[in-house]
Amino acid sequence: MPRERIVSPESAGPDEEGFSLSLRPRRLAEVIGQRDLKEKLSIAIQAAKARGEPLEHILFHGPPGLGKTTLAHVVAAEMGAGIKTTSGPALTRPADLVGILTNLQEGDVLFIDEAHRLGPVVEEFLYPAMEEFRIDITVDRGSFARTINVPLQRFTLIGATTRAGFLSAPLRERFGIFHHFEFYPEQDLLEIAARSAHLLAVEADAESLAEIARRSRGTPRICIRLVRRVRDYAQVRGDGRITSPIAAEALKMETVDTSGLDELDRKFLRVILETYGGGPAGIETIAATLNEEVDTLVDMVEPYLLKIGYVARTRQGRTVTPAAYEHLGVSGPPTSRGKSKKKQATEADLFGEA
Ligand SMILES: Nc1ncnc2c1ncn2[C@@H]1O[C@H](COP(=O)(O)OP(=O)(O)O)[C@@H](O)[C@H]1O
Ligand SMILES: [Mg+2]
Repeated sequence: MPRERIVSPESAGPDEEGFSLSLRPRRLAEVIGQRDLKEKLSIAIQAAKARGEPLEHILFHGPPGLGKTTLAHVVAAEMGAGIKTTSGPALTRPADLVGILTNLQEGDVLFIDEAHRLGPVVEEFLYPAMEEFRIDITVDRGSFARTINVPLQRFTLIGATTRAGFLSAPLRERFGIFHHFEFYPEQDLLEIAARSAHLLAVEADAESLAEIARRSRGTPRICIRLVRRVRDYAQVRGDGRITSPIAAEALKMETVDTSGLDELDRKFLRVILETYGGGPAGIETIAATLNEEVDTLVDMVEPYLLKIGYVARTRQGRTVTPAAYEHLGVSGPPTSRGKSKKKQATEADLFGEA
């Protein structure tokens, strides 16, 4: 992680992993929201179990922090199976997969995170593994080269990706179950905030939990992180209880505004607004101006801004919408480049009255 971004939906490393692991739902019944997915999975799981077969391969896609890894573990637990996890970038050659695949037990789950970053050679190596539960290994070189066929135990591959479009079509077709993760409604986030506060054994009033839920960018991981930050603040600056004023102050200190946007989100909007006259601006141009990776913007910043209607994507590039102008306190779309009549939002406008 290049920077500490409190609303970053990416995991902040091993510490937080350890922390969130304890808050991570382990069984389907503990998963909050996601009704359709839960129903779809529980039917598939019951049917597979009744037939004594492993579950079909599953592809989860959607923005980070919405529960893809969590659900992969839940599926394994519900199947009563083991789980091995790896990721696209870790698998640079087919050889990296041989040991993993040949060690899988019947019914085990192999979880491949960031599946869109698998190279074409590794993808191709996976096809027969997924389809026929065998791999073809080439041994020796030159005229001695021959292919050995190694049978595998029947397993379930669960892939997770932020970009389903980046998977090759033949790989995508080998998954039997697909699910796109959407941002969570406020009601679900409220439940997640309440559950987190409960598991962290911190007292929090309903209003402050609702405020945290509203500012969580539709993302469970952010919601949990905010609860933790507010808890710290309450412990040091208050009496340990999370109340509305404490929550507002803590969130303001973290520069998470009333729409749940952080500094990078606002910078993204302001660049289009101020440098490119409201857009359209190409994503590469925006990334270069912000000195950010295109991937960071496309995976972590844009999806939520699109979802809440602050940004629109056109063939020509990205534009900001009137709702974003209003949020940032800029009066109306400019008439020509950079000539917007700026009336910057005050701190109170952005972060609420603390
Ligand atoms: N539906 C859910 N119910 C409860 N907690 C959730 C849910 N989805 C995600 N979480 C929590 O959010 C955190 C991030 O989820 P994760 O599965 O790591 O997201 P992803 O793999 O999509 O980036 C996890 O620690 C988990 O505790
Ligand atoms: Mg994950």
